[in-house]
Amino acid sequence: MYAIMGVTGHVGGAAARELLRRGEPVRAVVRDPAKGADWAAAGARVAVADFGHRETLAEALRGCAGAFVLLPTDVAAADPDAAHRAMADTIAGAVRESQVPHVVVLSSIGADLADGTGPIRWLHHLENALRAAGTQVTAVRSGHFQEKVELLLGAVLDAGLYPVFAESADVPTPMIATRDIGGVVADLLRTPAHASEVVDLDGPIYTERQVAEELSAVLGRPLQVVTIARPGWAAAMVDGGLPPQLAEELVGLYDAEQRGILQLRGDRHLTGRTELPETLRHLAKSISTI
Ligand SMILES: NC(=O)c1ccc[n+]([C@@H]2O[C@H](COP(=O)([O-])OP(=O)(O)OC[C@H]3O[C@@H](n4cnc5c(N)ncnc54)[C@H](OP(=O)(O)O)[C@@H]3O)[C@@H](O)[C@H]2O)c1
Repeated sequence: MYAIMGVTGHVGGAAARELLRRGEPVRAVVRDPAKGADWAAAGARVAVADFGHRETLAEALRGCAGAFVLLPTDVAAADPDAAHRAMADTIAGAVRESQVPHVVVLSSIGADLADGTGPIRWLHHLENALRAAGTQVTAVRSGHFQEKVELLLGAVLDAGLYPVFAESADVPTPMIATRDIGGVVADLLRTPAHASEVVDLDGPIYTERQVAEELSAVLGRPLQVVTIARPGWAAAMVDGGLPPQLAEELVGLYDAEQRGILQLRGDRHLTGRTELPETLRHLAKSISTI
């Protein structure tokens, strides 16, 4: 049995679907029992647990051969640094208490660095807390998700703008589809290495301008690319609805990216193959059904 946290999200959902497709037993961990019904219908066992509650989370992981864990962003946290470190500690505490022997953690490129990376430093903290929990840890350090365009959809749909938080929209950047990450997670759960390891993961390469062009094509409407220089980043994110503290954290992340300190430094490297247009077509379909 494999426990999948964040099963109603991108990567957890993709991992669980892939495991079920291969006939593997899945325990789908949800915080809202109503969201478990579809997973039960798909053949999964369902466990209800919040990532902020160690005992119920430990119960959800207990008895499993492996677990997928992630650190979701708590947009509402008044103190994002304290809140995400606390959630990471709770997850690691649940892993320790459950004695699950192998954990695949969704981490990020740059998580080898302790600081200066914005929210990625919480993933550094989570990776280390899991290693200290006495289980075998496979850290999947992903680059940009192709689905990150979802965060820009407000500006895209309301104003026909595609904002780019960088000096240039023409920097080639690897971007991976979350379905590919889920596939890798499923593989790693089924066939773990002999010891803890770090797996770097990236995908096909695009510039932000190419992303805007592909998005414009699937939505069937023109989009204007607008680059936002560093002094305007925080204000633009707050205008887009993010709380100021979280906006400052993301400024730290984009800064780290511009300084080139986010590099692949894992034990091995895998590349997803799904191309961006396919991901965007799925996204456009989900918009049209809203
Ligand atoms: N975006 C990128 O480019 C990028 C790059 C590298 C790494 N990452 C990592 O990927 C993570 C996001 O992964 P994703 O896109 O698969 O996530 P996602 O789609 O945002 O889904 C988050 C999942 O976590 C669940 N969740 C949130 N808070 C919870 C809580 N307190 N208790 C129980 N469940 C909770 C959500 O459940 P509900 O359905 O109930 O809300 C949902 O299933 C980021 O946080 C970051 O660590 C992102």
